[in-house]
Amino acid sequence: MKTFRLQIEGQASDIEADSESSLFAAMASAGIAWPVSCRNGTCRTCIGLLKKGKLRYDIPWPGLSADEKLDGYCLPCVALPTEDVLIARD
Ligand code: FES
Repeated sequence: MKTFRLQIEGQASDIEADSESSLFAAMASAGIAWPVSCRNGTCRTCIGLLKKGKLRYDIPWPGLSADEKLDGYCLPCVALPTEDVLIARD
């Protein structure tokens, strides 16, 4: 397991996010409020925009279109960091 920095646009400080947990789990551990519902990558409540860094998904194709993925949208409830990341609310 590796640990990365998760930066959220508009938040003063970064938080730690480990490579085996979702971005949402890291935010919840740090007490950061982020909209969430299904927690399995289908409802899109948690949608965000990845501005820096890379993510991976353990499920084959979460609820984002190919175009949305290319545009940098992500689903923090199921997205796992593979390097330091910066995300923003849509
Ligand atoms: S909370 Fe439903 S897709 Fe993330």
